Amino acid sequence: MISVTDLTESQALHELTRLADEIAGHDIDYHRQDAPTISDADYDALKRRNSEIEGRFPHLIRENSPSLTVGAARSEQFAPVQHGAAMLSLDNAFSDEDAAEFDARIRRFLRLDETPVSYTAEPKIDGLSCSIRYEKGVLVQAATRGDGRVGEDVTANVRTIGEIPARLAGAGWPDVIEIRGEIYLGKDEFIALNAAAEAAGQRTYANPRNAAAGSLRQIDPKITATRPLRFFAYAWGELSGSFAETQWAALQALQTWGFRVTGQSARVEGLDGLIAAYRNLEAERPKLAFDIDGVVYKVDRLDWQGRLGFVSRAPRWGIARKFPAEQARTFLEAIDIQVGRTGAITPVARLRPVTVGGVVVVNATLHNADEIARKDLRIGDMVILQRAGDVIPQIVGVAPDERRGPEPYTFPDHCPCPLHTPLVRETTAAGAQTVVRRCSGEFACPYQRLAHLRHFVARRAFDIEGLGEKQLTAFNERGWIEQPADIFKLARDAEKLAELRETDGYGDLSVANLVAGIEARRTISLDRFIYSLGIRHIGETTAVVMSRGYGTAADFLVAMDKVAARDPAAMQELDDLDQIGTAVIAAAAEYFAEDHNRRLVQELYDQLIVEDVEPPKQDTAVAGKTVVFTGALEKMTRDEAKAQAERLGAKVSGSVSKKTDLVVAGPGAGSKLKTAAELGIQVLTEDDWLTLVGA
Ligand code: IVH
Repeated sequence: MISVTDLTESQALHELTRLADEIAGHDIDYHRQDAPTISDADYDALKRRNSEIEGRFPHLIRENSPSLTVGAARSEQFAPVQHGAAMLSLDNAFSDEDAAEFDARIRRFLRLDETPVSYTAEPKIDGLSCSIRYEKGVLVQAATRGDGRVGEDVTANVRTIGEIPARLAGAGWPDVIEIRGEIYLGKDEFIALNAAAEAAGQRTYANPRNAAAGSLRQIDPKITATRPLRFFAYAWGELSGSFAETQWAALQALQTWGFRVTGQSARVEGLDGLIAAYRNLEAERPKLAFDIDGVVYKVDRLDWQGRLGFVSRAPRWGIARKFPAEQARTFLEAIDIQVGRTGAITPVARLRPVTVGGVVVVNATLHNADEIARKDLRIGDMVILQRAGDVIPQIVGVAPDERRGPEPYTFPDHCPCPLHTPLVRETTAAGAQTVVRRCSGEFACPYQRLAHLRHFVARRAFDIEGLGEKQLTAFNERGWIEQPADIFKLARDAEKLAELRETDGYGDLSVANLVAGIEARRTISLDRFIYSLGIRHIGETTAVVMSRGYGTAADFLVAMDKVAARDPAAMQELDDLDQIGTAVIAAAAEYFAEDHNRRLVQELYDQLIVEDVEPPKQDTAVAGKTVVFTGALEKMTRDEAKAQAERLGAKVSGSVSKKTDLVVAGPGAGSKLKTAAELGIQVLTEDDWLTLVGA
């Protein structure tokens, strides 16, 4: 993988497209099928890469960017709701010049004389927009924005938000009105929510906006009810009759009907007023109890708004003037080295605490050694820190003329783990060297061990019932499970099992279940065995290819020993397998060259019965074909579909290319379907597929 800092603009564009697609696929697996196919950490890494690329190329942020959407674009957990009037977005302005151009355009369009135009300038609240429909003053439906035309029905959840009236107060409201506004979480509430999540070992949210979206889009409204969500009203959609002549008067009316509107909104005159309002809000921003990311300018007169109308997806009468990323200066006190699950080394900046964008920042990732060198960051420097929207705080560079650090930073060449392994440069799947350095200690490195064990018992690997992350961590802490073989030894260790009963309060049934869960996996397929080892670049698909290539565990292990010894014939044999390239060969060689890895595999193998591979069928309708599944499947899970296809001799791929023979598309299929149409590839429904394979 190319480092984010090395991407060209066109590579970045391509990557963002790919990531959006990949993340959307995982979102579907997770939210709609309840069957994630990757770990949370890997998922987060994809999202992080997406955000990092967006941080470097903000103008490439896609409208459907994974950083802007929460979960699947529209999950089937929530019924679709057609908005009475589309929920559009606003164009962005970034400077006084842009504001002047906005004002000039309006005056040109309306053919106005010199009299200044009245505008409202409202804080742009950083939450998620919501449309709430009232009929005869009674809340009947609430929907998220969705794609602007169709959103998700979140009525039950919105009813739990105290600031949203179930019945409109006062008078003068039209019989039908869709109130539009922003659901958000305050800064303090966000921090408290994350602290509670962290204490409970749950996922934390990246920022208040994500937290608000995640809290609203709960399947169980009881959970939403526990989140201190708030609401500001600022606009409306469908209306059965007009109720105000100006935006300013409309905001007052919304207030009399029981909504909160922002106290920082102002009515201003002309360009000078627009600029002054922006400066004012920029100064207010740090003091506000909620995040704002800009100022929304709107033409005040609603009849003029009507005349100005819309261009494509945004009104001509309004614009969002965005704040630049917030910056702060602080001391770089230290650079720590973190070892990730895969052994990847990440340098982390320890900073003197500083508030940026309402959040106290004490750490910032430095990504990799090259980044530190490029910016010439030195311990003791005064650095400039930046936080823009979703993007994790980043160090922009050393504050000009404020270099304090006496000497350039030397990146360690050994892992900080007790093994003290020499760090190696990571290679991409295509075999190219990257800027990432890695500890090769794998299971033997204590920083990686638990992560490796987690991978080992993950659903796609050994999938041991009753041995989840919690138990695994506990058993690891007391030294019972340090490597995979220990799991199978534990199931037969009467002494330890007795101890579980006596001191850990396990009942007979729980112990029996744990033992049964482990024993049930003592017999395992070869591909799972290979995948479970967590060797770099050997994911599930590669593991399946290798298992088919070698057929038996014994042959696999013999071959790997030879690969480790760089035996040319053995390396060629591996290379000849479909889809296996230099990165896999190098990773396998590196892994099996380590004594501790070979011992670990042997000890594990001694505990198991690894099944031989049945050769795939050759005489089926889909044998030898490359198939892509996309969208939601209704009669089977993705996994089942994949396994079935492979059993029948087909190859399953994640992306559509010229090599694809068939695309099986379910509801929600997106860009893959488009690509298939462009390439003239045959597209089947799930039912067509089942008929074809005779299931
Ligand atoms: S008015 C035609 N007013 O910003 C759209 N939007 O970029 C009219 N937002 O989707 C929207 N504060 O989620 C409006 N005071 C405000 C706003 C505001 C935040 C959000 C809203 C909208 C997005 C547009």
